[in-house]
Amino acid sequence: MSITLPALSPLLKPSFIFGVATAAFQIEGANQLDGRIESIWDTFCATPGKVLNSDDGSVACDHYHKWQEDIELIKSLGVDAYRLSIAWPRLMDQNGDINPKGIAFYRNLLSQLKAHNIKTFVTLYHWDLPQHLEDEGGWLNRETAYKFRDYAQLAATELGPWVEVWTTFNEPWCSSILGYGEGIHAPGLKDHAKARQAGHHILLAHGLAMPVLKSICPNALAGIVLNMSKSYPADNNPSSLMASLLAEALDNHFFIEPILKGSYPDIIAALKPELMPEVKTGDMDIIQSPIDYLGLNYYTCNHASWHPEQGIQTILKSDSEVEYTDIGWEINPHSLFELLTNLNRQYALPPIYITENGAACDDHLIDGEVNDEQRIRYLDGHLNAIDQAIEQGVDIRGYFAWSLMDNFEWAEGYSKRFGLVHVDYQTQRRTLKASAKAYQALITSRASHC
Ligand code: GCO
Repeated sequence: MSITLPALSPLLKPSFIFGVATAAFQIEGANQLDGRIESIWDTFCATPGKVLNSDDGSVACDHYHKWQEDIELIKSLGVDAYRLSIAWPRLMDQNGDINPKGIAFYRNLLSQLKAHNIKTFVTLYHWDLPQHLEDEGGWLNRETAYKFRDYAQLAATELGPWVEVWTTFNEPWCSSILGYGEGIHAPGLKDHAKARQAGHHILLAHGLAMPVLKSICPNALAGIVLNMSKSYPADNNPSSLMASLLAEALDNHFFIEPILKGSYPDIIAALKPELMPEVKTGDMDIIQSPIDYLGLNYYTCNHASWHPEQGIQTILKSDSEVEYTDIGWEINPHSLFELLTNLNRQYALPPIYITENGAACDDHLIDGEVNDEQRIRYLDGHLNAIDQAIEQGVDIRGYFAWSLMDNFEWAEGYSKRFGLVHVDYQTQRRTLKASAKAYQALITSRASHC
């Protein structure tokens, strides 16, 4: 089984970037070593009932010790780029001073990647807020945005020479809504109005960091990564259409519209005024700082309807005809095509990278092989959807499979496997799955197309 694109697909041009992605907390482990301080995810994992099987990030994929082997792994896939995150709690101590050992770890890692000719896409914040900042209110505290700017400045100064592309935040929706609204991610609070305020402070932090990154690293690109979801009306009821529009406003436009247009969506002010955050004079000018690119993480779509008492309801399941991944997410590549072409109509978009896309599958390692056909089909479908979106004029420059390897899947612990590479958590042995080989083959096939 293989991933097949049309012979003349723009994805097969040498300029299109193929990569794999990970995040610090999900792979590094060593969370008490070499001066790393506690993050909100350490606290969350230690809180009974929050993470499946009480899994935590203390060892994860032991990447902190196995990073050289992992670079070999990345190289063996033939990818052009590696998207990773650096851990704020590893870089800065409680007083905001530099942690030399943390800096050394990322310097070694990034300089080795560069030496191997692998482009480095580096995220500053992939959800691991230092716990001491959460103790002062976390993202509900406006001050945290300014603390983030200081951290961005330190990271850019110390690591800038090895970074090609900076990302301020990965998925502000998850950090704010899952973290402060639904309570299923750290720090585990449940207040939707406050969650939107947290979202606003994250956007503010992004806007404050952008000019810092641009001035310290004028040759790097800088932008943000947003997760988005296409919402369909669950049925023919007109209220379901409205619910799907509101769902997209809350999930997608709440985060992109301030950056590209300097406003929050009108439909939220009209239908959910209680979710409008407090915006201080000048905030939108900061947030609107121009981005060099937009990163999009895409996994699945949802189906929305309106419930008289509970209001908007979105569900992941539509009907049994549809195929789902092991985490219960519908496989619908066409929804990615629709999302991309719609966004392109609604906004003056900067160049886009698909910074995450992938599937959790029920993988089994048998005789040294993992035959993850579903993942190959998933990648094939979504890459072809991207090909079609480019055909329709969307400027997409690259694609990152989530993930390089199986890792800590947040509230699901180690139960869900998203990797192209299988990780045996007992031995830390890495094994290329069939999907890794298919991805590798697709990337190598470019040579015969150019
Ligand atoms: C995300 C995260 C990843 C997840 C992945 C699968 O951005 O949500 O970047 O950390 O593991 O999305 O849920």
